[in-house]
Amino acid sequence: MELFIKILLVVFILFVTKIVLIILFFYSEIRAAQKRDPAAKNFFEVLFLYPGLHALIYYRIANLLHRMSMTFSARFVSQFARFVTGIEIHPGAKIGKRFFIDHGLGVVIGETTIIGDGVLLYQGVTLGGTGLQQGKRHPTIGNNVVVGAGAKVLGNIVIGDNSYIGANAVVIKDVPPNSTVVGVPGRITKQDGKKIDVSLDHIHVLDPIMQSVEELEKRIEELEKRK
Ligand SMILES: CC(C)(COP(=O)(O)OP(=O)(O)OC[C@H]1O[C@@H](n2cnc3c(N)ncnc32)[C@H](O)[C@@H]1OP(=O)(O)O)[C@@H](O)C(=O)NCCC(=O)NCCS
Repeated sequence: MELFIKILLVVFILFVTKIVLIILFFYSEIRAAQKRDPAAKNFFEVLFLYPGLHALIYYRIANLLHRMSMTFSARFVSQFARFVTGIEIHPGAKIGKRFFIDHGLGVVIGETTIIGDGVLLYQGVTLGGTGLQQGKRHPTIGNNVVVGAGAKVLGNIVIGDNSYIGANAVVIKDVPPNSTVVGVPGRITKQDGKKIDVSLDHIHVLDPIMQSVEELEKRIEELEKRK
C-alpha cells in the first residue's frame, strides 16, 4: 500500500513538473491561441485540449533532436505527434514564436518550411513542395500571416508579412506583404487594405518591384502636376 502511494506521488509530481515546464516554455503560444480563437474560454482549455498546441510541443522536441542529428528519433516524435493530433510537422521546419494552429486536423508542414512569428494556420493547410527537387523547396511564411482552412502554399515561395491566404486557395507564387490572396491559383484581392481590381494583370500585381515602380511613377506624375 505504501509503495502504491509512493508511485502515485511520483506520477503526480512528474505530471505537475511537465505542466509547469509547458506553461513556462509555451506561455506566449497559449496566450496567442486565446487571443486568436474566440472559442477558447480560458488558459487551461488551450493547455489541455488544443491539438495545435500539443503538435507544437512535440515539434519543439523533434526539432531539438533533428538539430542534434538524431533524425530517426526526431521523425519518430513527429509521426507520434501526427498520430495523436492529426498534424504533421517535419522536424526540420523552422517555426517562430506565438505560432498557433487552430483545429489542426490535416495540417502538413514540409521539411524546409520557414515560418515567422505570430503565424496562424487553420485545419487542412499544406505548406508543401511542388516536386522531387532537393534543397529549399517549401515556402517561407512571413510574420503575422494567416493561412485559411484547406489552403495550399506550394514551392520555395515567400509570403510577405501580415498577409492573409483565403480558405482553399492554392498559392504558387510570391505574395507581397499586407496582401489578401484567394482562389486557385491564388490571386491578390487586397493589398495594404485596398481592394485590387481582379481584371488587372496578376503577374505584375504579384511582383512587388513592379508595384514599387508603379507607385513611384504615380508620385512623379503628382509632383509634375504641382509644378
Ligand atoms: C479571404 C478572406 C480572408 C476574405 O478576406 P476579405 O478581405 O474580407 O475579402 P472579401 O470578403 O472582401 O472578398 C473579396 C473577394 O474574394 C472572394 N473570396 C473571399 N474569400 C474567398 C475564398 N476563400 N476563396 C475564393 N474567393 C474568396 C469574395 O467573394 C470577393 O469576391 P468579389 O470581389 O468578386 O465579390 C476570407 O474569405 C477567408 O477565406 N478566410 C479564411 C477563414 C478560415 O479559413 N476560417 C476557418 C475557420 S475554422
